[in-house]
Amino acid sequence: ISELEPTIVTIFGGDGDLTWRKLMPALFNLHIDGFLPEKFKILSVDMKDIAQEEYNKRHLEGVNKFSRRGKATKKKWKEFEKCITYVQADITNDKSYNNLKNIFNETDKEWDVEASRIFYMAVSPYLIKEIAGHLDNTGIAENSQKHRIVVEKPFGHDLESARELNKVLQGIFSECQIYRIDHYLGKETVQNIMAFRFANALFEPLWNRNFIEQIQINVSEQVGVENRASYYEQAGAVRDMIQNHILQLICLVGMEPPVDLNANSVRDKKLEVLNAIRRFSENDVYVNAVRGQYDKGWIEGQEVKAYRDEDNVDNESLSETFAAVRFYIDNWRWQGVPIYVRTGKRLQEKTSYITIQFKEVPHKIFPSGVRELVDQNLMVISIQPQMGIRIHFEAKKTGLDMRLKPVDMIFNYSDSYKNDPPDAYETLLNDVILGEATLFMRSDQIEEAWSIIMPILDVWASNPPQKFPNYQSGSWGPPEAEALIAHDGFYWHTFT
Ligand code: BG6
Repeated sequence: ISELEPTIVTIFGGDGDLTWRKLMPALFNLHIDGFLPEKFKILSVDMKDIAQEEYNKRHLEGVNKFSRRGKATKKKWKEFEKCITYVQADITNDKSYNNLKNIFNETDKEWDVEASRIFYMAVSPYLIKEIAGHLDNTGIAENSQKHRIVVEKPFGHDLESARELNKVLQGIFSECQIYRIDHYLGKETVQNIMAFRFANALFEPLWNRNFIEQIQINVSEQVGVENRASYYEQAGAVRDMIQNHILQLICLVGMEPPVDLNANSVRDKKLEVLNAIRRFSENDVYVNAVRGQYDKGWIEGQEVKAYRDEDNVDNESLSETFAAVRFYIDNWRWQGVPIYVRTGKRLQEKTSYITIQFKEVPHKIFPSGVRELVDQNLMVISIQPQMGIRIHFEAKKTGLDMRLKPVDMIFNYSDSYKNDPPDAYETLLNDVILGEATLFMRSDQIEEAWSIIMPILDVWASNPPQKFPNYQSGSWGPPEAEALIAHDGFYWHTFT
């Protein structure tokens, strides 16, 4: 892959958790697979005074712990660590950026080419504007063809702050330089939704309100707040999961076919879905959205604490660790089809899947009693940990009489493909290096997504929950979430 442009990746927050758990293991795996340019450097920028050797050692440990491949071989790590330079710097000071500028200039001279520069903001959100300002002052990111910045979520705290951040960034960079990450979009099974829908003739004709009765999206986790209370206390489940990951899943399921895979063709179609999602009035919020917070309980045989007893969580915290919402897309394709989403921490299973439930057949020729179960046709798109697609339908059971029994047609990634799927961050970093923006969020998408959830956040903020905590760890959330869907005559499908 020698024709890849020489590239310098600068990571602000180079000694932080994200770099340790995700970015270094992902870059290392790209190195193993030969996807990094021949001329390649990582500048890890952080406050701490750490010797290069110590930094490399710590990140080798990170790779060994978090890489999907397990332990690094000595040979590959030795090759890779040569690319890494740790730069101790105060990122609030212009001098540090002049120092970076010198490194860039020297490297360009040494390589005899103007390298691409990628600036990865793996820092607290409040530092992003500051760093962007310094990049602007020193002019080290001004070539719109060669320089890119990568911004992690959360992108703003609400619609207003997201608009403000977009404004600041767009005042400095052109939109095509800004890569806003939503790591769900890098997941193999999430990318497969487009492949499945638009590379097959079989399903798309059924993909609309005439045949689909309801859609469910479940993104449940067993972990609690872990060591992220300071962020999560301010965020809660709607900001953390629905504003970004889950609305993106709705876009992929709901979008019209784009004409091609260019970043803007795809993002335009997703934006249309976001535009069409019904906005909630205050009363709609009460009817369509449920919040929860976990109490103590049991996960996989281990007793776990209530959210309010976790480290750094206020013991009267009102942050939601669970949310269930009924959305509608108001357009020709989806009018009247409810989309139920459910996400939360400390739930019974870690599992993410999308269920498409088809309508009943128009006329039933099989008398009641010949079906053992009353399931309708379902399509289950499993995102993780299962990866694949399952179609659930009725078939005749063997025997002399006409009895029906639901069966499954199953596609599993692991049965069909030998290669280990790349981690989402490998895919996304590879795309940033290639300058391929399809899997990243455009400014208008981010703002639309915020505008959809703002009514929920506002109504909840001004009406404290009556009873928190309201679900046990290890359950499927509060009873109100069951009631939300039962009201329409449905129930949450559960697949692990
Ligand atoms: C992150 C959220 O974006 O996604 C976390 O901030 C959550 O709270 C995580 O745990 C889930 O990601 P994944 O890839 O494990 O589903």
